[in-house]
Amino acid sequence: MALHRGSSKNDATTGGSNPLITEANPALGQRLTSPKSRLAQDPVPADVAYQLIRDELLLDGSARLNLATFVTTGMEPQARQLMADCIDKNMIDKDEYPQTAELERRCVAMLADLWHAPSPDQATGCSTTGSSEACMLAGIALHRRWAARVNDRTRRPNLVMGANVQVCWEKFCRYWDVEPRIVPMSGERFHLDAEQAVAHCDEDTIGVVTILGSTFDGSYEPIADISAALDELASRGGPDVPIHVDGASGAMIAPFLDHDLLWDFRLPRVASINTSGHKYGLVYPGVGWVLWRDADALPQELIFNVNYLGGNMPTFALNFSRPGAQVVAQYYIFFRLGHSGFRAVQQAARDVAMFLSGQIEAMPEFRLLSRGDELPVFAFTTTEHVTGWDVFALSRALRERGWQVPAYTFPADRQDLSVLRIVCRNGFSHDLADLLLADLRVAVDLLNDDSRTGTATGPSGFRH
Ligand SMILES: Cc1ncc(COP(=O)(O)O)c(C=O)c1O
Repeated sequence: MALHRGSSKNDATTGGSNPLITEANPALGQRLTSPKSRLAQDPVPADVAYQLIRDELLLDGSARLNLATFVTTGMEPQARQLMADCIDKNMIDKDEYPQTAELERRCVAMLADLWHAPSPDQATGCSTTGSSEACMLAGIALHRRWAARVNDRTRRPNLVMGANVQVCWEKFCRYWDVEPRIVPMSGERFHLDAEQAVAHCDEDTIGVVTILGSTFDGSYEPIADISAALDELASRGGPDVPIHVDGASGAMIAPFLDHDLLWDFRLPRVASINTSGHKYGLVYPGVGWVLWRDADALPQELIFNVNYLGGNMPTFALNFSRPGAQVVAQYYIFFRLGHSGFRAVQQAARDVAMFLSGQIEAMPEFRLLSRGDELPVFAFTTTEHVTGWDVFALSRALRERGWQVPAYTFPADRQDLSVLRIVCRNGFSHDLADLLLADLRVAVDLLNDDSRTGTATGPSGFRH
């Protein structure tokens, strides 16, 4: 459900067209006579509808210049072709499209292997629409395991996580009536650490969510340390709390670039892991994945055996119908790149991120919060040299050149800190990074000039 309310001002019927222009160029000559937020009485010719909608979408920014998103903005023509070939396949019709289902199974097996499931045949998992659905499913499994353990309906479960969690975890807690135990940021600690994680756990903690890596600054949380601290807590007779790793981005980076980092099923306390196929899994939106280390980690009563269109189908999902094309595209990426292909793509993104962060760090106006050496993502803020403008003004100034670099304020207890964040992805080349840097320098010079001469319109002002 998209929550869009009411009708728009543009709904007015404009009417009228010049017949000569219309004859010469049906799309451009036509003035839209159909309402935009209600169904029109009559059809619009396909060419005209296509042209008008395409034109309207020109107002969207360029996806390639969108440095705000983690989501894939470019795939090879062969992948696009495969997706077009599969656009009519419903992922749920496993009996009708058994080979699409088989490709999904292979992707789960590949991820189980990549994330070191103790026995890849034992690991269970599925595709989802993205990490949000994957996190919901993982959260439900944690909740079920806790409920079976305590068997007392009067108690209220809680989930421990850092204030840097993505909103999907707050949604999970609200929708399933779980108390969110959110550990605030403190000083220069921008994510969860072992000490704070343990301090927030009790007998009603269904799990600790750890993030690889943080949406706010791209940093990895110290999952091995958190796991060791929870082991210690359990060994002292405290609660035995499982970990879920939200690897929306990092679960497709760390296996290729950070071999020595312990974060996955090699840690016995890690019960489940999710990732977004459509982020560093390199597929267009929307596909995600969630895996449980073994059958015990996923309570069997959550799996529905649906008798559907002649087949018996086990499912654990919030959605029923959803596109099969993204799953096929994920298999294509896995099949095509292999380990060394993935390593090359992710290393290139990290190289660009570290090059850019190094250049930005050298400017007196900025201070880095992270440098892109974990996720290829970094955040930076202004130094004390900057008094006449702020990160929001710079974000808007960059937008004038088409760059979408978000500026935002950190959560509790660092709301005083406002940053810019740059997400480097496959397709954001060194050349583009050079162009961004050149535009960034021009924008900073203009903002500095404006604030010296007093032509800026205040700290958030910018010049047209
Ligand atoms: C850490 C983390 N978890 C979950 C999500 C939600 O992912 P999706 O957009 O695939 O639903 C995001 C998205 O940015 C994220 O960064």
